[in-house]
Amino acid sequence: MQHLAVRAQALRAPALPTDPTPLPSPASLLTTANRCQRPATMVGNTPVLWITEPLTPAPASAHGRGFWAKLEGANPGGMKDRTALHMVARATARGELTPGAQIIESTSGTLGLGLALAGIEHRHPVTLVTDPGLEPLMRHMLAAYGARVEMVSEPHPAGGWQQARRDRVTELLADDPRAWCPDQYRNPDNQEAYEPLAMELVAQLGRVDALVCSVGTGGHSAGIAKVLRRYFPRLRLIGVDTVASTIFGQPAGHRLMRGLGSSIHPDNVDYPAFDEIHWVAPAEAVWACRTLAATHHASGGWSVGAVALVAGWLARTSDADVRIAAVFPDGPLRYFDTVYNDEYCREHGLFGIEPPNEPVTIAHPSAVVLDSWTRCTTVVDPKNRDGTGDPTVPQSHSDTDPDARHARPAPTDQAQRSHIAETAPEVGP
Ligand SMILES: Cc1ncc(COP(=O)(O)O)c(C=O)c1O
Repeated sequence: MQHLAVRAQALRAPALPTDPTPLPSPASLLTTANRCQRPATMVGNTPVLWITEPLTPAPASAHGRGFWAKLEGANPGGMKDRTALHMVARATARGELTPGAQIIESTSGTLGLGLALAGIEHRHPVTLVTDPGLEPLMRHMLAAYGARVEMVSEPHPAGGWQQARRDRVTELLADDPRAWCPDQYRNPDNQEAYEPLAMELVAQLGRVDALVCSVGTGGHSAGIAKVLRRYFPRLRLIGVDTVASTIFGQPAGHRLMRGLGSSIHPDNVDYPAFDEIHWVAPAEAVWACRTLAATHHASGGWSVGAVALVAGWLARTSDADVRIAAVFPDGPLRYFDTVYNDEYCREHGLFGIEPPNEPVTIAHPSAVVLDSWTRCTTVVDPKNRDGTGDPTVPQSHSDTDPDARHARPAPTDQAQRSHIAETAPEVGP
């Protein structure tokens, strides 16, 4: 009997601890703010994070300088989720994209994730044409999200992998008359897609004096700056490109970094909107990505590293009250086999290289062929060279740092063209 009594006692529910503070009622906690009825509503309203040392190493007198990073990696796929959803919505509204029609696009990644999301959301099959440079992880991710991934096998003799991909898209479109191609390089809806991001920055920061953006198709720099300047007309826009990219007048070369840079001249680049351009080398972006991850836990890929390097320098060299926003287009996931992989970085000569404290300044993008961090306040549209329509560009080095690192004279047009053909540049946004 005594034995049973002990068991009964053991089975009795334990007494609830008496908590003096009552919990708020479920009704008072109820909010629909983070409730997503559909996958597309997970896009947008990304956080901003304050970034300081060691990205903004400053003299003691300027201690505490920093910039606000807009963390677009918080979207399901990245910043291009916004573009993909908006371009699809606009094309549907115009009747260019009909129900169930195939979406076909050339992409090396982030837009592909966005289009896969848009395809799920709006029930369109999605075919993405890419090249062998696409990380295997990314290929698996795109396939897992339901996209058909098609790989071109040979670069175009003059336009490299980017042109080869675009040519394959043209063939696929010819095979399917109902199919639609967003063409992120030329589609103005790409720029327009960033209006909400700009409005989020206004709401989050109250004021933006300088905006730092990477440039691939040119969509987000153009779209965000256009809206921000309606609020803050004196906003400075700083564009960040990679070395060996043709966007701002450098000759094409082999590019390791994906996302930013191009071997073509995308129509979405709003040249007059930029106050200055920086070119960053892969090793410098790797250092910034890894430093960001280790010190701020928020990092990303090549474009994030390049943008962080430039925004850190800007924060350090600007007056203390200048409010800087920098767009981090994606998170680090996709880059663990490249940027964050020691073996890959050693193999490509990117390991453990610390960038200089500041960039070299040149007078004109045609002055030298760059292979390390450089800035220029003369912004050149290569389709129209110096903006006058005059293709003769000044070769002045007057503003060039006398010890310009690794700078070599720019090739003549003729040499430049054969250089483009030889190196068969590969990657783009
Ligand atoms: C990771 C990443 N960073 C930067 C960019 C450049 O952005 P935009 O095409 O808006 O110039 C892209 C473009 O695809 C990208 O995928």
